[in-house]
Amino acid sequence: MRAAPLTLIDAGAGPDATSRLAARLDLQIAEPPGDPAGSYLATANGLGFRCPRESGDGTLTVVSDLLAAGDRRGAVRVGGGLPLLARAVGLDRDVRTVVDATAGLGRDAATLVALGATVTLIERDPVLADLLEDALLRAQAAAPEFAARANLRRGDALALLAELTPAPDVILLDPMFPERGKRALPKQDLQLFRAWLGPGDAGEIVELLELARSCARRRVVVKRPPRVKPVAPGAVACLEGPRVRFDVYAPATPTTRNANPT
Ligand SMILES: C[S@@+](CC[C@H](N)C(=O)[O-])C[C@H]1O[C@@H](n2cnc3c(N)ncnc32)[C@H](O)[C@@H]1O
Repeated sequence: MRAAPLTLIDAGAGPDATSRLAARLDLQIAEPPGDPAGSYLATANGLGFRCPRESGDGTLTVVSDLLAAGDRRGAVRVGGGLPLLARAVGLDRDVRTVVDATAGLGRDAATLVALGATVTLIERDPVLADLLEDALLRAQAAAPEFAARANLRRGDALALLAELTPAPDVILLDPMFPERGKRALPKQDLQLFRAWLGPGDAGEIVELLELARSCARRRVVVKRPPRVKPVAPGAVACLEGPRVRFDVYAPATPTTRNANPT
């Protein structure tokens, strides 16, 4: 994705913090406004990334904040119980280890970590992975017990999933879909993913689901907007809320721990 080396702009962090970030990420510091096609920002809240809006009208800036995402979204209860995501993943059924194979800005992963799961975040886009790594470092300083349950792997889940040992209980997939109108993401995040990463590839998503089903011990969960077609037939359960749906698939080779996901 990164066409040219990205630069870092001091956007409120101050010269010392900006220099430290530049050294850690091996980036050149640039004067504002920086490259309109995409720039890292040293903000007062950590590493940010700014890119053009998909409408071409101005820019948007995002920072990954795992602790805030975990607090806010961990607290959202559907029907008085666990959040829909946590129930889809099976945190109420003794699921402990989750791989978020399409980690993005880490919001879903943070929700699961906040609720006690140990989560491996896989992200293949180098910019998103940098934002996640920065968020994890900040979480390590502020809440070490939270950060200890989150671990980042950079790279393509299609290559990394099969290497994971021991196999995770659950694999969560929230890829970019080819169709427009995906509303399961906050507007700002959705714009970043669309503008920076572009649409997903339907064939690759099916491949990822098949691979995930051959690697997960208990279940694979695919996050989708409500009322759109499932990625593949054969979901054993479907949990739908007003803004999001989770399709639950059984592992391809059921193990003795393959609990009924419903
Ligand atoms: C829609 S976003 C995920 C948002 C995430 N659920 C969150 O809470 O922030 C999709 C992300 O998956 C990543 N991705 C897509 N396919 C991938 C793959 N095969 N391996 C690793 N990352 C992948 C993209 O780079 C993008 O950052």
